[in-house]
Order: sequence, then structure tokens, then C-alpha cells
Amino acid sequence: MTSIITDFAKQLRKSAPPPSSWVVDPYDLNDLQYVGSGAQGKVFSGHYRRRRIAFKMVPSLDQSRFEHIKDLHHQNLVRFHGVCLAAPNVGFVMDFCSKGTLHSEIYQKLPIESHTVSRWALEIATGMSYLHERGIVHRDLKPLNILLHGAAKTAKIADFDLSLKLGSDRTSFSGSGSIAYMSPEVHLRREVTFRADVWSYGVVLWETLVRQRPYGDLNSWAVISVVAKTP
Ligand SMILES: Nc1ncnc2c1ncn2[C@@H]1O[C@H](COP(=O)(O)OP(=O)(O)OP(=O)(O)O)[C@@H](O)[C@H]1O
Ligand SMILES: [Mg+2]
Repeated sequence: MTSIITDFAKQLRKSAPPPSSWVVDPYDLNDLQYVGSGAQGKVFSGHYRRRRIAFKMVPSLDQSRFEHIKDLHHQNLVRFHGVCLAAPNVGFVMDFCSKGTLHSEIYQKLPIESHTVSRWALEIATGMSYLHERGIVHRDLKPLNILLHGAAKTAKIADFDLSLKLGSDRTSFSGSGSIAYMSPEVHLRREVTFRADVWSYGVVLWETLVRQRPYGDLNSWAVISVVAKTP
């Protein structure tokens, strides 16, 4: 009897698909605590394999869309560790960034040293350049998607959920993003290239330096009509 069970177990092991470390078992996520919500889902802090992580829970996830973020390793990008695919715990596991967002830093009342702004500018540019060299356009670069980590508050670009790997012609079409940071071609639903991120980067830098909301109190339609007319 024992040998039958052992043989059966061996057979099962042979036929089972190889374990994928990219797919995370939700039972391996511990100490989950709610952090906040965004347009796409809720974010929790917690632990995975003794590492402090953030788990972004989303309603659904097409795994094939995330193949390109698997191998992205850079000090100025939030590192992804895997995806949970077992409903209702569908989402991404990524590094937890301990010092909030660039957005909260801009709008807190304390002064920000000019060398800190320069360093963030360089860190964001370095992270974006790493993405662009790999044919990836972020498409939603904004202070809420730039997280700060550690005592030095290192800038790390987050939310590759919207990011897109461009084809060899390095162009694509899109209508997504956040209005104040969108380039004219995104508003006009024209071809989107890396230049769309460069536009958003410029708006982020302006906001970080001036510490005011881009376009002030203008409503979304007014912003779109002003920006879309930019040559
Ligand atoms: N890796 C992370 N580490 C720490 N906090 C995070 C992490 N990812 C997200 N958060 C926090 O979780 C909250 C929700 O983030 P989420 O990305 O879902 O929304 P958002 O950035 O505010 O808006 P959007 O949906 O447009 O991206 C934010 O307060 C964000 O700072
Ligand atoms: Mg976000």
C-alpha cells in the first residue's frame, strides 16, 4: 500500500507544472495591513518571505501583460516580486516603500532643500531612462506614482500596471494616464512614444520645484484644450 502511494506521489510530482516563483501563493503573504486605495485597487503592506512588501489588490489581472516587468531591476524602480492569481486575492507583490509619495512630500509644509529636488530629478530620470532603454513607456508618471524609500528618501517609480512595451517601431496608442501630466499626443489619442513620459516628467519637475498643482484650479476640460493645442 505504502509503495502504491509513493509511486502515485512520484507520478504526481512528474506531471505537476514546475513551480513558478513569479506566481505568489496568497497564503505566503503575512501581516497584511491596509495602506490606501487608488483608481485600480487597494494597497496593503505586509511580509512575503520575510521581506516587507506592498500588495496591490486589483479586480483582475492578465498575467501576460506583466511579463515585461518581471525582469526590471533598478534602484529607482519599485521592484516587483510576483503576482497573486487566486481570486479574490488577485494583485501584485512589490517592495514596500517606507516614506510615502513624492506627492505627499511636495504638499507637506516643511521646506525641501534644492539639492534634494535635484537628486529626485536625477533619480526619476535614471529610472525612466532604464525603462525607455528596454522599450517600456510608463504612461502614468506623476508624483503619486513616485514613492520614497529609506532614510535618504530615494525616489522609486511605481505603477507599471499601465506601462506598455512598445513594438519595434517604438510607438503605440493610448488614452490612459492622469490629466494634468498627459502630453498633447495622449489627449489627442495620437501615436504615443517615450516623449509622452518626457512631458509628464517635465510637469512633475515643475510641481516639485514650485509646490503647486499643475494648472491650478482649471477644470479637466480646460486643461485638455490648452495642452492639446501645444504644437
Ligand atoms: N510599493 C508601495 N509601498 C508603499 N506604499 C505604496 C506602494 N504602492 C502604493 N502605495 C500607497 O498605496 C496607496 C494607493 O496606491 P495606488 O497606486 O493604488 O493609487 P494612487 O497612486 O494614489 O493612484 P493611481 O491608481 O492613479 O496609481 C498610495 O497612498 C500609495 O502611496
Ligand atoms: Mg499609484
